[in-house]
Parts: sequence; structure tokens; C-alpha cells
Amino acid sequence: MVRCQAMVHGGACLAHLDGGETILVDGAIPGELVRARLTHRRGGTWFAAVDEVIEASPHRTAPPCPYVPECGGCQLQHIDYAHQLELKRGIVLDAMRRQSVPVPDHLPMHGMDDPWRYRWRGEFHVIAGTEGMAAAGLGFKRAHSWSTIAVDDCLIHHRAIAGSLPALRQAVRRGGAAGLTALHLTAGEDGSEVLVKPRPARQLDASAVDAAATTLPDGLRWNTDSTTLRWRGNTIRVRAETFIQVNQAQMEVLYGLALGRLGDLRGARVVDAYAGIGMLSLAIAETAAEVVCIEENRIAARLGMLNAEMNRAAARVRYLAVPVEEGLPVAAAQGRIDAVVIDPPRAGCAGSVVGWLALAGPPRVVYVSCDPATMARDLHILAASGPYAVEELDVVDMFPQTHHVEMVASLRRRE
Ligand SMILES: C[S@@+](CC[C@H](N)C(=O)[O-])C[C@H]1O[C@@H](n2cnc3c(N)ncnc32)[C@H](O)[C@@H]1O
Repeated sequence: MVRCQAMVHGGACLAHLDGGETILVDGAIPGELVRARLTHRRGGTWFAAVDEVIEASPHRTAPPCPYVPECGGCQLQHIDYAHQLELKRGIVLDAMRRQSVPVPDHLPMHGMDDPWRYRWRGEFHVIAGTEGMAAAGLGFKRAHSWSTIAVDDCLIHHRAIAGSLPALRQAVRRGGAAGLTALHLTAGEDGSEVLVKPRPARQLDASAVDAAATTLPDGLRWNTDSTTLRWRGNTIRVRAETFIQVNQAQMEVLYGLALGRLGDLRGARVVDAYAGIGMLSLAIAETAAEVVCIEENRIAARLGMLNAEMNRAAARVRYLAVPVEEGLPVAAAQGRIDAVVIDPPRAGCAGSVVGWLALAGPPRVVYVSCDPATMARDLHILAASGPYAVEELDVVDMFPQTHHVEMVASLRRRE
């Protein structure tokens, strides 16, 4: 039996065995007394799962999904939503304190009114049955495992994706080659279309996809090339190879905060680093004089330029299709930079990017991140020992029911 302490990034609770060894317990809530089953050990840490709850937290709730806890997708469904938000706020605050990043005491937390069916994108594994593809299912990885679990629905995916699953199963059973491992799905066109991309490409017979598409519910269709999303009056072309914010409702909150923190951009020259297909850049270009987008994925950069043209912003949006490490000094050599937005992947920024910002960065930097630890590491250099002050740090719940969390920090260069 162990008493669970704080929740750590990943959704497990810290606890200690009688001998003092550290364990991380899945399926627990801070404060609970649980009987835990040790599952594996990595480094000096044991991992465990809850077998029996002896003293339950008042925040414990029955997960509505029948695949919890076997499915590895949702780590927090057993916790009421308001408490999920509190725990995530605590994880972000803890990451900042560990790196001595001076942040405001109270971090605003932006949750969802309805924390279900929010994912506009997802990847479903193809799970061959005992008779091979003829009985294949679709599903996800099990927690801490390479094995998979087939599902009939997923409560955090958009209705268009959930509504496509029976027809997709049919397509896979009739036309899936033995090498087909996954289907990458993106909802678009206001939820009336799903972009279907087999992984690897060409492992799913196109005629089987066409035949299955005729069985889709009314008002739903598939596209196998690209789809479109709409945001703030812009129509944005999306492909499977390019990043999107999977939670489109919370994207409004996240990017709305980023835009607000950038302040008055009239006449400004802004760098959007890690710009993707230009979702945020287009909104910045509504007021800024010029937006320099830096994006190393050439497919995303090409699509970003197309999106700028489609939305009549090509005169103000420019792409540098290079790594941010190379692009920042180039953008600076071409003219004064008034503000930089950085929205890196989970690994955070390269040391050279943080170093360049610390030495030569503009008065205003807005940092959007999906990883508290790497954001805190970068903010340590920029703010704890560097020239910036963290004026605001907002936490946005882009991924309810899971341990993932997103943050927006607004940094002001000290005089
Ligand atoms: C979190 S996404 C940001 C997307 C973007 N802000 C948007 O509104 O869609 C990160 C993006 O950074 C790109 N990327 C990752 N590492 C990079 C690097 N070193 N230099 C430039 N782009 C990079 C990825 O291809 C991806 O498009």
C-alpha cells in the first residue's frame, strides 16, 4: 500500500515504497491510499498501476470510456475535470520552480466547457485479427506497451472521425495490405470531411476506400489529399504531413492569448518561428506590416505560402524554409524585428535559438509550448538568468482527459 503524492508530467503520482524507493503510480490521484501493482522498472524508478483504491480522493470519478485503463490514450479520465485542471496547473508551476523561472504566483488556467470530442486529428493503429486483415480492427497502444487495443469509438475524437470508424474498418478489411500499420485522420470542412491517410502510403487499396465511403453517414465524406480548416475568417489548407493544433476550439483560446500578448502590431515586423502552415501568421498579418515565417518542413512552408495567397496576405507573409537556428539571424539581417513568436515542438528550442534571443532578441517574445520541462529549461536561460521578464504565463488545456498541457508565456525585454 502506498500514499500518493504529487502528480508528475505523464499523469502518474509520485509515491515511496517502505524502503524509500520512488514509484510512479498510474491511475491514482494525489492524496489517495492505494494498493499498487509494480509493472516495470526504469533507471532507479519503479512504475506501478492501481489495483485497489483504499482511500479514494473526493475527485475520483467513473471514466465514461470502457477502454480505460487498458488504452494508453487517456491518463486522467478517473479524475473530475476541474481537478484535472488544478493538477496540470501544479505541474507547470513545479516545472518553472525547478528551473528557478520567476513566474506570477497565480497562473490562469483555461479549460473547456465540454472536454470531450475535441480532437480534430488522430492516428488509429491497424490491428490485424487472427485471420489477418480480413478481421482487422482499429485502435491505440496500451499504456506502457507496444501492444494494441481495438476500439469501436474514442470519446475524445471529433464526431466526424468517430463516425468514420465503421467504414474505415470495412475499407481496411477489404483493401488493406499486410504492411498497413495505421490510419492518420484529420477532420476538416467544419466537420463534414475527414482526410484519410494510410501509413505507410499506398498500403490501402483506393477502390476499397471509395466503396467504403458510400456507407458513410449522411453529411460526411472523405478526402485522401488534403482538407481545410477555418479560423478567424481565414481558410487554411491542411495536409497529413503538416502540424495542426488538434483541439480547434482551444486553438482560439491559445492563439488568441498569443495575439493579445503580442500587443499592438500596427506597422510591426514580426517573426513567427516554427510557423507550420501559418495558422497564427495569418492572424498576425491582419495588423502587422510583415510576418517572417520560419519553418523547416518544406511541405508546411509551401502550404503556408499557398494559405497566405488564398487569404490575400501574400504581400505581408514571407517564408524562410530553413531551421529556426539559421532563419533568425537571416531575418534580423533583413530588417528590425519588433516581436518574435516561438512555438517549437516538444523538444523546445535549440540552444543556439535561445542564445540568439538572449543576446539579440526583440523587446517582445511570446513563447507557446506543449512541454513544461523544456519550456522551463529555455525560460531559465531567457528569464531566470537572462534579459527577459516573464510578464504572463497562461496554461491552456488543449488535451482534456490526458496529461498533456499547453502554455503561453509573454516575455518583455528589461530596459
Ligand atoms: C508546434 S508546431 C507549430 C505550428 C504553428 N505555430 C501553427 O500555427 O500551426 C512546430 C512546427 O515547427 C516545425 N519545426 C520543428 N523544428 C524546427 C526547426 N528547428 N526549425 C524550423 N521549424 C521547425 C515543425 O515542422 C512544426 O511545423
